Amino acid sequence: MIDKINRLSSEIDNLKAAKAEEIETLRIKYLSKKGEISALMNDFRNVAAEQKREVGMKLNELKEKAQEKINRLKESLEDPQTGDSFIDLTRTAAPIALGTRHPLSIVKKEICNIFRRLGFSIAEGPEIEDDLHVFSSLNFAEDHPARDMQDTFFIARSPDILLRTHTSSVQTRVMEKQQPPIRIICPGRVYRNEAISYRAHCFFHQVEALYIDKGVSFADLKQALLFFAKEMFGADTKIRLRPSYFPFTEPSAEMDISCNICGGKGCPFCKHTGWVEILGCGMVDPNVLDNCGIDNKVYTGYALGMGIERITNLKYRVKDLRMFSENDKRFLEQFESAH
Ligand code: DAH
Repeated sequence: MIDKINRLSSEIDNLKAAKAEEIETLRIKYLSKKGEISALMNDFRNVAAEQKREVGMKLNELKEKAQEKINRLKESLEDPQTGDSFIDLTRTAAPIALGTRHPLSIVKKEICNIFRRLGFSIAEGPEIEDDLHVFSSLNFAEDHPARDMQDTFFIARSPDILLRTHTSSVQTRVMEKQQPPIRIICPGRVYRNEAISYRAHCFFHQVEALYIDKGVSFADLKQALLFFAKEMFGADTKIRLRPSYFPFTEPSAEMDISCNICGGKGCPFCKHTGWVEILGCGMVDPNVLDNCGIDNKVYTGYALGMGIERITNLKYRVKDLRMFSENDKRFLEQFESAH
């Protein structure tokens, strides 16, 4: 009897099955009522009394072992990795699907890193703001159109609480609390009351930079802009500044870069001008410094602000702005994850 148990035990150790039907056949062979183990159980009656203890234990062990083996074979069919019998070493490794970073996050990080190398540090502010920080301190006239419901989302009126329309509001918050030297870069989300289309959205993202110290000049601004453009779009990139107007800077300018598609020769993207506009900038208006408690006789500064979507479009040619907020994996998966 003991010999028979040992023989069945090693047979069970070596059982193999590749299909569910084969496992079922084995189960019937060993564990069913008419199976080999049941047959041994029946013979147990005839075992001599002094051997009954030892044989009984072995028999129970054998039954458990057979049950376990059958279970393991079944599991390995469901999940080939856990079973000990069917690891297919010839199978190609399943690649782990890594998520990808959102294109706007990639570009935001790149912009911030470039300015960080120039000594700027990140500053952030609230998205729900008051009139003072978004408009009044920044020298917006009482009747400026941005203060109109048509352009700005108001949460409450008098006192006005609103969704910030630009990240220039972070400038005023930092200047209020901190005396120069100030050298900050402010990335963030902004809101405007626009009809959503392929070229406009009611929310988008900006990065603002502000540098205030003794003797900061327009030449410093120009050098920072040139450095940024070359780092962001390649060493051959040229910049040009056009006079412009913003309430919070004087003088103000808009910066174009040589079109990075045609290299400045002219193409449909740059409307055959060879240039594309990328940001607004200027010397901080002395009124703004004064409004925020900074002595405008001692200090000067420059500021600049750009839309992250615009820079992203230039880098990746996303034709429809809405793609950025639709969470379509087919779109998002096209961007690298390693940033
Ligand atoms: N805040 C401006 C906008 O939303 C962008 C801007 C222009 C920011 C000029 C600046 C600046 O700091 O100097 O259109």
